[in-house]
Formats: sequence, C-alpha cells, structure tokens
Amino acid sequence: MAPLHPLLTRLNRWRYTLYAPIYDRVAGAFARQRRRAIALLAPQPDERVLIVGAGTGLDLDYLLAQRALTAIDLTPAMVDALAARAAHLGLAVDARVMDAEALAFPDESFDAVVLHLILAVVPDPVACLSEVERVLKPGGRVVVFDKFLPDGARPGLARRLLNLIARLVATDINRRLADILAATRLTKIHDEDAGFGGFFRIALLRK
Ligand SMILES: C[S@@+](CC[C@H](N)C(=O)[O-])C[C@H]1O[C@@H](n2cnc3c(N)ncnc32)[C@H](O)[C@@H]1O
Repeated sequence: MAPLHPLLTRLNRWRYTLYAPIYDRVAGAFARQRRRAIALLAPQPDERVLIVGAGTGLDLDYLLAQRALTAIDLTPAMVDALAARAAHLGLAVDARVMDAEALAFPDESFDAVVLHLILAVVPDPVACLSEVERVLKPGGRVVVFDKFLPDGARPGLARRLLNLIARLVATDINRRLADILAATRLTKIHDEDAGFGGFFRIALLRK
C-alpha cells in the first residue's frame, strides 16, 4: 500500500461528507449515462446487484425492478442520503458504510456490480476492481461509467496540471481502464463513448 493511501481515503471521506448535501445537483447531470449503463448491465429482477461507491443513490432510479440490492459507500453521509432515497422510492436496499477496496462480502456473492464514478476516485482502483472480481459470481457482469484517459495514451502537460486540481477537488482524470483491468481476469465485452468527446466512457465487463 502506498504511504499516502490512508490519508487519501480519509480525504475522500471528508470531502464527500462536505459534498453530500449538494451532490445531486452536480451528479444529477448524468441521468442519460446512468440509464444507458444499467440498460447494458441488464440485471434480472432476482439477480443480486451491488452498487459500489454508491453515493446518494442516483442509480436507484434505474434499478426499481430489483429485489436484491446492496449499496456500499465509504462516507456515512452518502449512505444516509441513499437510504432516504431508497425509502422514498419504496426500494429495499441493504445500504452499508464500507471501503470499496476491502469489501466485507464472501466470494461470488453478486450477479452484477455497478461502478459509477468510483474507479477514478478511490486511491487504489486495482484493489477496488479486484475486490469486485472476487465478490462477483462466475459469469457475473460489471458496468463501469467514469472518466478515463484513452487506453495506451499518455497525458499531456495541460492534462497533468489539470489533474492536480481535479484530484484535489474530487477525482483522477488520468487513469486508463485497460491498466486497471489488466490486473484482473475480468474481460471487457463492451466499451462506448459516454460524453465529452470520449472523456467519459461506459464499459461492460464479465467475470
Ligand atoms: C463521485 S462519487 C460517485 C457516487 C455514485 N457512484 C454516483 O454515480 O453518483 C464517489 C463516491 O465514492 C465514495 N468513495 C470514495 N472512496 C471510497 C472508498 N474507498 N470506498 C467506497 N466508497 C468510496 C464517496 O464517498 C462518493 O460517494
């Protein structure tokens, strides 16, 4: 583990506690991408679905038919907001405070996993995706929606400088999905532009 790792996790909890009351006004802008990503995941109503780094639960609107939903997030204020949204929607969600890099679930617990705007936020995205792989049943699917550097590309100076600010505020903009994926045995079966000239992508992975 990198020496700064515990500090970065604490920073995430602190800043997302600060953002929780206004989060929906910003992240609500991604409704189209959420709908598309969950349509690609195509969870059957009885499948066990896990939302990792679930935030205030903006994805719940697209998972109304699910009967076995679990959502985890590092930030208690986010989990509280998600639980309130679930109650408002009449959805039974097992919502827990948990670190995405150390999931407290047995191996092969879930059929499908939602990873929206989280791989670019956690300090160690490989640890996060490896945990998702572990808790996923064989043949299970993962949908990823996030901002990535194109596979194989190197960030220019402007993007590296911009990333200093982006990381301070919320998120890393210079991660490559292929690099994160290479550390697992998950297979990418679909990848599409999700806006801003390919800056945002939606990918479907299978175990
Ligand atoms: C950009 S928000 C995305 C929230 C939600 N997935 C969405 O699409 O709106 C990032 C979320 O990741 C959570 N988070 C950050 N580090 C985490 C970690 N190590 N484990 C679990 N959640 C984490 C934050 O608390 C925040 O709710």
